[in-house]
Amino acid sequence: MTEYKIALVGFGGVNRALAQLIAERNARWQQELGFSLKIVGVTDLFLGSVIDRNGLDAASLAALPAVKGAFAQLPEGTAEAFNESVIKHSGADIIAEATFTNPKDGEPAATFCRWALETGKHVVTTNKGPIALHGEELKRLTKANGVSFEYEGSVMSGTPVLRLARQTLAGSGVQGFEGILNGTSNYVLTRMEEGLGFAEAVAKAQQLGYAEADPTADVEGHDVRLKVVVLANELLGAHLQVNDVACSGISGITSNDIAQARDSGARWKLIGSARRDADGSVNASVEARLLPSSHPLVGISGATNAVAFDTELLGAVTVSGPGAGRIETAFALLSDIVALHTSGRQA
Ligand code: HSE
Repeated sequence: MTEYKIALVGFGGVNRALAQLIAERNARWQQELGFSLKIVGVTDLFLGSVIDRNGLDAASLAALPAVKGAFAQLPEGTAEAFNESVIKHSGADIIAEATFTNPKDGEPAATFCRWALETGKHVVTTNKGPIALHGEELKRLTKANGVSFEYEGSVMSGTPVLRLARQTLAGSGVQGFEGILNGTSNYVLTRMEEGLGFAEAVAKAQQLGYAEADPTADVEGHDVRLKVVVLANELLGAHLQVNDVACSGISGITSNDIAQARDSGARWKLIGSARRDADGSVNASVEARLLPSSHPLVGISGATNAVAFDTELLGAVTVSGPGAGRIETAFALLSDIVALHTSGRQA
């Protein structure tokens, strides 16, 4: 029976949910998946850090109050975030990186990934910043160090997208995709169809925890742009930088636009897309589009995400599901660990 030693970097909603799942499901995972997880370290800029090579109690970690320096309450803990020690010296086989996304330079998450890969640890992450901004470098490091680097949760949380397209759709000839890749903006557009104003709908999305603290990245398309870069580079073999993707959002859509669309059975959606052209180049964009009633994404409402792959052999293949949420995103980390477990490249 395999037991992976795991260190959690960032202990906000996602890694805390992973600790909760470990507490509740480790025995079941042993039976169903052939491995269990032992948490040997946790670090968080706000809460501090803790290392115990014999294993920390996952239920106690999940229940710790979210107050500054809370890890100092644990026997081996400290209020300081010793990120480098936890990543390099806790004896972990796998680093679960789930810190905040920095859309400008992907830091400090990218450095956390580098430290882990350079010291021979597998990395699983839900963070789109390092992948969109430093993906090629991190993949080179992964190869050079003979480890795994998995990031299913960087697009659409635990809803399978990256591995589905890369593995299950391999050979189908994926030529492009269109996606509803931001829950907040789709929720806002849906509520506007029901008569709410833009600002009210955004406030509601914040209350429900979908929107970022500053929802600009959600409604102006910046969050989707990072996801488009990840998908296009991953699935279409592109080498896009963030600035290669033309980007606009939904803040210019008025209640009047929405009402006019409804009269003709059409719906406004924020669409992130990329397509391989005949000359092999890949063009990508993020923009609000008026979808006709026949479009595969037209029925996606509320905070749900979806992506429609355009394939040569199957036509449109569409997958929809949650694009955010604590447990939903923690599941993406589990699915990454399942992938590395079955890859044969185990610790
Ligand atoms: N704020 C994002 C959304 C979270 O609304 O989809 C996931 O990236």
